[in-house]
Amino acid sequence: MIFKNEVAGLVAAANGIDNETVVHGLEVPPSREMGDFAFPCFKLSKELKKSPAEIAKDMADALDKRLAKPEYNRYIASCRAEGGYLNVFINRAAFMEQSLTEISQAGGRYGSSDHGAGKKIVIDYSAPNVAKPFHVGHLCSTAIGGAIKRIYDFLGYETVSVNHIGDWGTQFGKLICAYRRWGDAKALAADTMNELLRVYVLFHKEAKDMPELEDEAREMFLRLEQGEPDIVAQWKEFRDFSITEFERLYKRLGISFDTYDGESFYIDKMGEVVELLEARSLLVESEGARVVDLSAHGLIPYIIIKSDGATIYATRDLAAALYRKRTYDFDKNIYVVGSPQKLHFNQLFTVLGLMGYDWVSDCVHVSFGQVRLPGRKMATREGEIIELEELLDESVKRAAAMIDEGRGVGDPAMVAEAVGVGAIVYAFLKNGRERDMVFKWDEMLDTDGDSGPYLQYTYARASSVLQKAGGVPERADYAKLAEAEEFELTVALSLLPDAIADAADKYEPSILTRRIFGIARAFNKLYNMHSFIDSPLGVREARLHLCRATRELLGTGMRLLGITALEQM
Ligand code: ARG
Repeated sequence: MIFKNEVAGLVAAANGIDNETVVHGLEVPPSREMGDFAFPCFKLSKELKKSPAEIAKDMADALDKRLAKPEYNRYIASCRAEGGYLNVFINRAAFMEQSLTEISQAGGRYGSSDHGAGKKIVIDYSAPNVAKPFHVGHLCSTAIGGAIKRIYDFLGYETVSVNHIGDWGTQFGKLICAYRRWGDAKALAADTMNELLRVYVLFHKEAKDMPELEDEAREMFLRLEQGEPDIVAQWKEFRDFSITEFERLYKRLGISFDTYDGESFYIDKMGEVVELLEARSLLVESEGARVVDLSAHGLIPYIIIKSDGATIYATRDLAAALYRKRTYDFDKNIYVVGSPQKLHFNQLFTVLGLMGYDWVSDCVHVSFGQVRLPGRKMATREGEIIELEELLDESVKRAAAMIDEGRGVGDPAMVAEAVGVGAIVYAFLKNGRERDMVFKWDEMLDTDGDSGPYLQYTYARASSVLQKAGGVPERADYAKLAEAEEFELTVALSLLPDAIADAADKYEPSILTRRIFGIARAFNKLYNMHSFIDSPLGVREARLHLCRATRELLGTGMRLLGITALEQM
């Protein structure tokens, strides 16, 4: 929030305290009656050998004395001591003036910065597996990763979005075997995932009575690894078809990737990893496998080569990390992957450290909790598959039922798609990512609740106010904005830049979601209590400016989160 630094500086100056101490200490009190900012004096108590209440009183006196000076009262209106806190009330009119001017001058880029100029961020997200269903965890990774990427872009970073698809591994031996026996080419082209899943499940069923199938599959994977052309062509067909299916979903979500270099991309890059590990004597033999012993780090061994000689997911992730550092020379290398893989990333980063790469401190696992539909467990395990497109379709269907066609919404199908998809994306970004989440349709689609449709509804409402007003006058006197609701809305707007920066720092889009929701709430409160259009001259102009700023910032926030803003709903 702008003003915070100024207020902190003045409090510090009036009391001869270090600026940093005040900036870091300054809080926003739980209720506005207490103050716009509060400085807790508890920590200073020991050092100053006074009670927090006494310190607060002294600080209030010192500050109060200076409030006659313009450099002080430009920012601070009054202050008072209360139970160990120095509470400060800001000069609201000046605050409104400064915030709204800043927003309008930013020309749609309020909250952006060039903080990231010259810095590169690699973001690995979505990463579904070829021939396995795109499950809800991948959707969650897609929503969170997409938001993080757009936020970093907005802060001036150069981002590289990587879709590290699972397109390699022994399962492809099984899959090719199964498909050769039971596959249907038409079904493969029409519905790749289901056809591959069907034969894959069949393979496991049949293998119970026909153990020789397992040998056949191993043999098949070997031939694939050796590059036998028709087998490679078959694998490539599965991969291409799968990517086409993934892209259909990405299109609905408004997502694209810079690269689909997935696990298979590292086939020829794993040899070097093994050599590097050997050179550092990090590989030991364990039950026929070659592993990195991590017991000194309190972790179980990291398997690099399985007992049958095959490389695994871990080997490819080591190769991928090396490749990314060399290719992109990243400042941060982010992996947006569910919490079940915490151990994997812990091991991966530890091994990279043992290999001597200090840039491992720039690698981050951004994990997230499990997703559940009520009464249904949406886990990754086989047999518990939630069809993702079905999920989106269901949401869109419910959204369509909600939309009032009589109101003359331009294109109801387009609106339903935006609302249905937005509801799902919002559900993923609404709470802290580490928390497990439960999908509840009623809440997700509640146009009056903490939901995507609520944001869209509010955006459409602000758009319609501006439209009905027939445009926004060029000039407005913000001093006319004297209502508490106008002040609260401006506060909400002014918090956006910090929220964006904070969301990036913590890889936590929910911080931004909360703030955007706060803006929508504050706007609707104002809308319900005061008229924008039928208000006195002077007030009307200023309120329309406020409405335009709201619409713009809601739009920015929604775009960063991946929710389509609608002019009409
Ligand atoms: N395909 C993996 C899965 O579905 C996720 C890959 C994440 N990225 C990575 N570099 N390991 O679990």
